[in-house]
Amino acid sequence: MCSIIGYIGNRDVAQILLDGLSRLEYRGYDSAGIAGIQCEEISVVKRLGRVKNLSDAIDESVKFDGIGIGHTRWATHGSVSLENAHPHLSFHGIFSLVHNGVIENYESIKHFLVEKGYEFYSETDTEVLVNLIEYHFKKETSLENKFLVSVQKALLHVRGTYGIAVLCKHSPGEMVVARKSSPLLIGIGDNEMFIASDACAIVAHTHNVVYLNDGELASITQSDFSVVTMKNEKIDAVKCELDWRIEDVSRGEHEHFMLKEICEQPVALQNAMRGRFSDDLSTAKFGGLRLSPRELRQVDRILFCACGTAWHACLIAEYLIEKYARIPVEVAYSSEFRYSNAPLEKNTLVFVISQSGETLDSFAALQEAKRKGYRTLAITNVVGSTIARESEGGIYQHSGPEIGVASTKAFTAQVCVAAMLALLLGRLRDMSFDDGVAFVQALLQLPEKVSKILEKKDEIRLIAEKYAHHEDMLFLGRQSMFPVALEGALKLKEISYIHAEGYPAAEIKHGPIALISGKCPCFFLATQRNTLQKTLSNILEVKARNAMVIAVVAEGSKIPPGCTDDLIVVPETHDALEPILATIPLQLFAYYIAKARGCDIDKPRNLAKSVTVE
Ligand code: AGP
Repeated sequence: MCSIIGYIGNRDVAQILLDGLSRLEYRGYDSAGIAGIQCEEISVVKRLGRVKNLSDAIDESVKFDGIGIGHTRWATHGSVSLENAHPHLSFHGIFSLVHNGVIENYESIKHFLVEKGYEFYSETDTEVLVNLIEYHFKKETSLENKFLVSVQKALLHVRGTYGIAVLCKHSPGEMVVARKSSPLLIGIGDNEMFIASDACAIVAHTHNVVYLNDGELASITQSDFSVVTMKNEKIDAVKCELDWRIEDVSRGEHEHFMLKEICEQPVALQNAMRGRFSDDLSTAKFGGLRLSPRELRQVDRILFCACGTAWHACLIAEYLIEKYARIPVEVAYSSEFRYSNAPLEKNTLVFVISQSGETLDSFAALQEAKRKGYRTLAITNVVGSTIARESEGGIYQHSGPEIGVASTKAFTAQVCVAAMLALLLGRLRDMSFDDGVAFVQALLQLPEKVSKILEKKDEIRLIAEKYAHHEDMLFLGRQSMFPVALEGALKLKEISYIHAEGYPAAEIKHGPIALISGKCPCFFLATQRNTLQKTLSNILEVKARNAMVIAVVAEGSKIPPGCTDDLIVVPETHDALEPILATIPLQLFAYYIAKARGCDIDKPRNLAKSVTVE
């Protein structure tokens, strides 16, 4: 939701912080700020809006002495204002702090501190924390690790979530960081150290990182770091090697990350499948599931939990696994599951799908399923993410970093993984060898078919531009195309701000058809042969009420002339994989409409890439 960054080293601290914040900005962009030790005092510079506004405010007077922290904010507590922007400074100017997360009991702590004479300039929970640390520091008599101990003591009073980086003017060569439910990693450089909310801010400088776990703190200097628990027990941190390159988090020749990531889908699908088919190419295999064929045979129900686009992927997974493996599947919004107390079978397998692996609602759902003793697995895109590490196994998508707030390549990769999971489970049950081989062949041909659709980018752009002035739109599809309709509606609404809804195509006559007029175009996903005629009837129903109709159909489909205003033809494929091909035109349609409307496509208003608040 917010992003934090820190640097200790001999290079230009402010510039390194600004570069890192620019790469993290997709996580939140209401305001941005940096702080550093300068001439034995803490200097803070912050601005509303984008990181560029902050960069423009940094002149030669800002010269941090080898250490600094930075933050981009997605407002939770308090309005979008300069006072509420991070970094926050403690009342006596001893500490500065940046925070990603929410402190639930900040009001009672604030009341306590006001009683002790502290005054506040902001409405934020974060300013309360930085003053609680100062309060403990001023009370602390021990000289050993006084800075770290003060942070530990303050955090013991905190209820909520945090990823924090803290500076202390009395300990100018040291930074203290801590995490609970909000991601934080340490980047180990050559006589310099970095911290960040996620790897894309660090990958330009080092590939050697340490992911902090919940309840851990670290004291970091320019040449070393030590990790401890809240009880000050030393931890031997596990170093990891980032498998990303700087090009993966750069826009390259593309105008937006979203378009780059749409175009990366053939490669992302290849990566999702790489090394995951049996030698006889009749089934799929996932080493990370950590479940034997016998254990998988025992599974009698599967529950998927997720949010947003990932939830749409779960809905498609439900269709695929029920159809090809005959296992009952349920899908729940993560935020709903954790409070629903759903009655599940003892052999229920719980999957959480999350691109970022940091969505707090989905992490909470994972924890709830684990608490109830269910085997919990994750399908995620970020190695070392919270959900990846807290699950009992799972499947990495290997989509590469997804920077655009609107999820594209991660979604189709999730659906591809779900199809492979349906294949694996189906071949453990009634799916024949021949059907398995046909399924695998269709999967192997998928990237090329996606490339063919991408070659129609300009055709889809021209169609999209015709509809860019509308303020309402319906997306309609049957069976596994209904979740694709939901995904198309979400893509459009989140980057173009057009009100869009997805419905099962046959459902519109039960109410939504009242919305139909010349001002409410309808986008039909009609690639399935077995329901094409019925979907054509739905198209005629809305055409009869003056709606403009766009439709995605499979090659060779017989569409009566004049039935639609615009037609997008996609290659035929195995019916399990139609949702992936049908999604590509929707992504491009939303992208080009948002572009025509001049919207901020990679950083849509009010949104952030990773929602780490509940
Ligand atoms: C999708 O375009 C949105 N950005 C959003 O719905 C997203 O899918 C959702 O927040 C879940 O994120 P996750 O996959 O990282 O958990």
